[in-house]
Amino acid sequence: MKVNKNYANLQENYLFAEIGRKVREYTAANPDKKIIRMGIGDVTRPLAPAVIAAMQKATSEMGVAESFRGYGEDYGYVFLREAIRGHYVKKGADITTEEIFVSDGAKSDVANILDIFAAGSMALIPDPVYPVYLDTNIMAGNKVILTPGTVENNFLPMPDATVDADIIYLCSPNNPTGAVYSAEQLQKWVDYANEKDAVILYDSAYEAFISEDLPSTIFQIPGARECAIEIGSLSKTAGFTGTRCAYTIVPEGLTRDGMNLNKMWRRRQSTKYNQLPYIIQRGAEAAFLAEGFAQNMKNVAYYLENATIISKTLDELGIWYCGGKNAPYVWLKCPNGCGSWEFFDKLLQEANVVGTPGAGFGKQGEGFFRLSSFGSRENTEEAMERVRRIM
Ligand code: MLT
Repeated sequence: MKVNKNYANLQENYLFAEIGRKVREYTAANPDKKIIRMGIGDVTRPLAPAVIAAMQKATSEMGVAESFRGYGEDYGYVFLREAIRGHYVKKGADITTEEIFVSDGAKSDVANILDIFAAGSMALIPDPVYPVYLDTNIMAGNKVILTPGTVENNFLPMPDATVDADIIYLCSPNNPTGAVYSAEQLQKWVDYANEKDAVILYDSAYEAFISEDLPSTIFQIPGARECAIEIGSLSKTAGFTGTRCAYTIVPEGLTRDGMNLNKMWRRRQSTKYNQLPYIIQRGAEAAFLAEGFAQNMKNVAYYLENATIISKTLDELGIWYCGGKNAPYVWLKCPNGCGSWEFFDKLLQEANVVGTPGAGFGKQGEGFFRLSSFGSRENTEEAMERVRRIM
């Protein structure tokens, strides 16, 4: 009997599980303290009224024989894929509904997509970045090259022609640093991927937060249809962290090693996955239609305002940071040469504020710290007041 020993190469806990454990321990020992959570990027604004109305209508339909639905369509209902397509067409990225695969989360898609690549593939992963990329490649027994994000490159690593890779991970706006690639920079990645016969896995979960003239999908970049797969999510855009809905876009003509990746993903999903409930898909559709979209963008603006409050506090305290402008995360340098986890403990114990240690996103994150703007205005303001007091 053999098990997947690659798991032995992982850290014991997933980053956010480890933070959760530490916070639970602290609250158990200090039940009277009011903790403010700015760690995991979990939304707090309620779902948009248009989304709720659509889900209520769909719920009623499920109670009537004529409109009741059983198993859904394998890759997501056409009405939802049309709505997602509409969102992309508005950005000038003309994808087809056959290229869109609805799912229950960007995290699961990022992990599951490795099924269509050979075990032992070479993955090029930015550091620091969303820990799921590295963890899932370790689980799959893949080879990994980390490409460092630093203050010098604005946490936007660029391709190195001397490095060969099969799978390239890009996350823009970046989690955790909030850095966003320009069109010129993305073009360099697309050209590199096409030259190396590699595939870019582009995570656009935070695209709604882009407030400047920057690319919000890899499919705005010429040549991307020949090398990229994009994974998008409603978690942060539409407050769906608990409701669940994401999608993966695999261009119909994307081939590697004599195989069509769209057909492979289609085969994988129809075999291993059974789609989201009809009710949720109707809610997700509403999130992309005019009324729901406008309501969601108000929530996005609310979070961005929180990010500004955080940034202003750091400005006052003379603490270096980036992000917070086109992203819901503010990435700061821990003051006084503090380590990431050391700063985590200080904030938790002295200010009762929870953030995310940069080291949890990779080696290059050591000495940095991430604050999330997804809290309420009141909590964000109070947290910043507490931070001012202890600095
Ligand atoms: C984060 O805090 O990095 C995200 O919320 C995690 C996720 O989206 O899975």
